[in-house]
Amino acid sequence: GDPELDLPPSPHPLRPVQLEEVRAHGRFGVVWKGIMTDQVVAVKIMPFKERSSWMTEQEIYKLPHMKHDNLLAFIGAEKREENLWLISVFHEFGSLSDYLKGNTITWSELCKIAESMTNGLAYLHDEIPVARGLEGKPSIAHRDFKSKNVLLKDDLTACIADLGLAIKFEPGKSPGETHGLVGTRRYMAPEVLEGAISFNRDAFLRIDMYACGLVMWELMSRCSGSDAPVEDYQLPYEEEIGSHPTLEDMQELVVMKKIRPSVKDHWIRHAGLEALIPTIEECWDQDAEARVSADCVHERLLQIGRTLNV
Ligand code: ADE
Repeated sequence: GDPELDLPPSPHPLRPVQLEEVRAHGRFGVVWKGIMTDQVVAVKIMPFKERSSWMTEQEIYKLPHMKHDNLLAFIGAEKREENLWLISVFHEFGSLSDYLKGNTITWSELCKIAESMTNGLAYLHDEIPVARGLEGKPSIAHRDFKSKNVLLKDDLTACIADLGLAIKFEPGKSPGETHGLVGTRRYMAPEVLEGAISFNRDAFLRIDMYACGLVMWELMSRCSGSDAPVEDYQLPYEEEIGSHPTLEDMQELVVMKKIRPSVKDHWIRHAGLEALIPTIEECWDQDAEARVSADCVHERLLQIGRTLNV
């Protein structure tokens, strides 16, 4: 092949970005670590055919009140030659999924990650009403919540990334384009797998909560809090259906058999992990209306973290 094609795209003359190395591959493109002036940045480079995801992500980030400690900080969006770029703050640890692959976590680290992650999700879901001429923030559903889309900052708090499938709900307005079957198969709620979702705000927020329960399970499965040895990192349902489940595999497992990731026996020998079990089960309830909200999970985590400082 042409060796030129393997080179990173040339930096823009006005906002020079030096691309250093590829850090992640996603469905929508490749994430590079780069240097912009004196700042380390993450650059998501997407092919032109992913322009709707590129547009959505920047539109969501540009909404009022979208700066929050537990949401990835957006820097800018650009068209460069053939590609579409999304530039954000860089986090050395990368995604929660990558971190759990390489590291176990203590109980206090679990509390910190889960608390900050649900704080970010609760904030995304929350509506800030317009008041006295001040701008509001619509309620936003993520629609691709998973451990790969949660990043860990240097202090091991979480921030939520990848808003390319997100939708906003403005009071009195229709959310626009809403076909149901989006997201990552493994993390799809039963009603999504069934193709049976109603297109209202609460239905979408509950779909995020199902996925949030799976991510909490991933955290618990890598927690060194109890006496038992910690098993190698596995994605949710990896034990049950392996690495490349088809839609049919997921439907059979999650919709028909109503299977969920296994709650480990040793968790009940750790007061903190034990206290979290009902909450993850309420996140992934088959009945979407029975699921807990992100704000409720966040409150419970604060409570459990305070009382069970084990
Ligand atoms: N992977 C995806 N986005 C990232 C970011 N902002 N920083 C580090 N790794 C990432």
